[in-house]
Amino acid sequence: MGAQSILIINSKGGAGKSTLSSNLASYYAQRGLRTGIFDFDRQMSSIRWLQRRPENAPSIAGKTGWGYHDVKEFDRIVMDPPAQICRKDLATLVARADVVIVPVLPSPIDIHAAADFIRDLLVDAKVRTKQKPVAVVANRARSNTLIYDQLKRFLNSLNIPFVATIRDTQNYIHASAQGLGIFEMNRSGMKRDVELWQPLLQWIEAKLQAAAGQIPQPAGPGMRPVLRAVK
Ligand SMILES: Nc1ncnc2c1ncn2[C@@H]1O[C@H](COP(=O)(O)OP(=O)(O)OP(=O)(O)O)[C@@H](O)[C@H]1O
Ligand SMILES: [Mg+2]
Repeated sequence: MGAQSILIINSKGGAGKSTLSSNLASYYAQRGLRTGIFDFDRQMSSIRWLQRRPENAPSIAGKTGWGYHDVKEFDRIVMDPPAQICRKDLATLVARADVVIVPVLPSPIDIHAAADFIRDLLVDAKVRTKQKPVAVVANRARSNTLIYDQLKRFLNSLNIPFVATIRDTQNYIHASAQGLGIFEMNRSGMKRDVELWQPLLQWIEAKLQAAAGQIPQPAGPGMRPVLRAVK
């Protein structure tokens, strides 16, 4: 089977694209999959995270998204795009993804921005999402807060699945500082967070399997050169 790609995207800055990307990539890597992170952001958060990664951690290849990459060397590719992506680049990235995940933060500004972004994603950008599974995830959630309740109501009101809630916790900061994901850290302190990821991981897996079943995956040519720099 060829490489399968997961795009974690939201045009709003700070929604958790890079945090979810690094954790997802490290999850795949520690399961023995040949994993790459394609970082499309000039901030290079994912590439910098990889530079902090211990030598003995399961290896993850970091690529800046702009160049040509032979995707045959990977089982899984996690794509980490910048905020404020233009519609053309959004369409290009979605076209390359097998699965699209949109993290949203519990804040009025983020909820408002997400409503616009998801509309662009589903309608305006003509991103062929009809064939691409798209899901939303609540990130940095604090239970028993009014704003999280508001976020849940918003995410449940969309006509795309709301698949997981990721907690607001320093565990992500500590893991990131060491170039690791929460799946690779001391288990006892991470147990709750690892559990909260399960519905997201299962949803992605189901969609990737369905995509692999529907579309024959020939060895085919590698990814074409991507995109111009995002303004
Ligand atoms: N679940 C979480 N718990 C605690 N901190 C988090 C969580 N998710 C993200 N953060 C923190 O929030 C900040 C923004 O997250 P991140 O860089 O992943 O967002 P982003 O969408 O990639 O941002 P940008 O748009 O700038 O690329 C970071 O400092 C990160 O450590
Ligand atoms: Mg980022």
